[in-house]
Amino acid sequence: MPDPTRRPSWSALLKDARRLRRSSLRALFAADPDRFARFALRFEDLLLDLSKQRLDLQARAHLIALLEEAGFAERRQALFSGGIVNRTEARPALHTLLRAPEGSRLPLDGRDAAAEVMAVRRRLERFAEAVREGRLRGARGEPFDAVLHIGIGGSELGPRLVCEALAPFADGRLRVRFVANIDPRALGEAIADLHPARTLVLVASKTFTTRETLANARHARAWLEAELASAASDHLVALTARPERARAFGIAPERIFPFWDWVGGRFSLWSSVGLAIPLYLGTAHFRALLAGAHAMDEHFRTAPLQANLPVQAALADVWNSTFLRLPARAVVPYDHGLRSLPAYLQQLEMESNGKGVSEEGDPVAWPTGPVVWGGTGTDAQHAFFQHLHQGTAVVPVDILAAARPVAGDAERHRELLANALAQARALAFGRTLEETRAQLAREGLDPELLARLLPHRTFPGDRPTSFFLYHKLTPYRLGGLLALFEHRVFTQGVIWNIDSFDQWGVELGKELAAQLLPALCGDAAAGEGWDASTRGLVAAARTMI
Ligand code: F6P
Repeated sequence: MPDPTRRPSWSALLKDARRLRRSSLRALFAADPDRFARFALRFEDLLLDLSKQRLDLQARAHLIALLEEAGFAERRQALFSGGIVNRTEARPALHTLLRAPEGSRLPLDGRDAAAEVMAVRRRLERFAEAVREGRLRGARGEPFDAVLHIGIGGSELGPRLVCEALAPFADGRLRVRFVANIDPRALGEAIADLHPARTLVLVASKTFTTRETLANARHARAWLEAELASAASDHLVALTARPERARAFGIAPERIFPFWDWVGGRFSLWSSVGLAIPLYLGTAHFRALLAGAHAMDEHFRTAPLQANLPVQAALADVWNSTFLRLPARAVVPYDHGLRSLPAYLQQLEMESNGKGVSEEGDPVAWPTGPVVWGGTGTDAQHAFFQHLHQGTAVVPVDILAAARPVAGDAERHRELLANALAQARALAFGRTLEETRAQLAREGLDPELLARLLPHRTFPGDRPTSFFLYHKLTPYRLGGLLALFEHRVFTQGVIWNIDSFDQWGVELGKELAAQLLPALCGDAAAGEGWDASTRGLVAAARTMI
């Protein structure tokens, strides 16, 4: 029964939502002194507190039942074993295999996909160590001191996030720069202080057809050639599922690191696309990242649904989005290292679950993936938190925080953590009219001013959070967190009955951009039949070019 609204638990959940909308987080906590113990989940050093979600045990049981009714056990099994989970593209989505340990096996289309993964991983690691140790040098014999990674979307966001997050683990042998945007400023700024003779350029593109990436790669090659002439090719590396296209671009076969069609772009940081990670951090940290992700894979695959972190995180999201009808979610890491996490999750979640038709191609009659956005705490507290606390739209928030810093001042870090915990508390419980009146009276406000300020200084509360607390942001922990987010997205998609692994919605804009370029370059015939607004804008832009 693919239509989830016809599953038995769906109507029970609609009733739960009506009941819980009339309740409050204050009432839920008052009714159950063990609420934290019941709704906080642990895996290794990671704690996920869902007690500040507007859920109770009955609603949670119905959500679990809904997931089971959706055939979750079979879908999860298919995900791990190479089943066709990306149905519109008729492909498996085997990113879990990319972090499987040495010695794993996975038969796929008559081959051992695991053996191929391990062979490429060993090649990547050997290459990274040779560059790091200066055994593999640039065309003039100088050791490389910088890596320029060119890619966009899933071919950039993941490696960038990991390198930023784990920068305290880098030994400084190589600097790393990431360029995605076709805006010439992006590449210009990235290479401004790099030297072509000491820079290794990675071109990451699954398809090797993405216009932004190829334009930037051509420009980077010209920058290398201006200094190194034909020896520039010694500095070019391709990370791609289409090696023949990389060869046609002029990249030497031994500098092409392949991956497979069954690696989705937004799930690709664990593949060759992530080469910048072992280059920047060394292979030991890269392996720890993979090990952390693999441990989370095993937890997701085997833990009971009640105790399964990705599953429970996903159920809270489905509850908020579909049943409480909250169409957005903010991601707020209290961790400077995770400053790119909101952008990374935006792609992971919105490209996966921003879908309006079911797997069968019917329009969906239920809200699916929310708008995901965010920024780091504490900065965000001085920007958009006003809206989170008192705005008319209720936005659930993911808060992430480490108990200890990897490096640096532990005292200031505790202040950071105090802020994270305080915000979750304020969002959940707010401050009632009476509490505010008492507070303002304590501040000594005269009665007239007090009455005027009272509504402005009251906080409604009941703004849900999912709180992720971990010991330290190590490579292992980051791997586990990112795998958790991937499985959370998959689990949501199973309930919503959508294909979480395709992204057809990005295609139309690409086609139209290709058609628009000639018009911008002056081809008058190109705009025939277009709408008046686009024609007007093109004409205006032409007068300004
Ligand atoms: O535009 C969307 C997209 O196809 C993403 O899914 C992908 O991560 C990105 O473009 C880059 O694609 P490629 O790796 O093929 O260059």
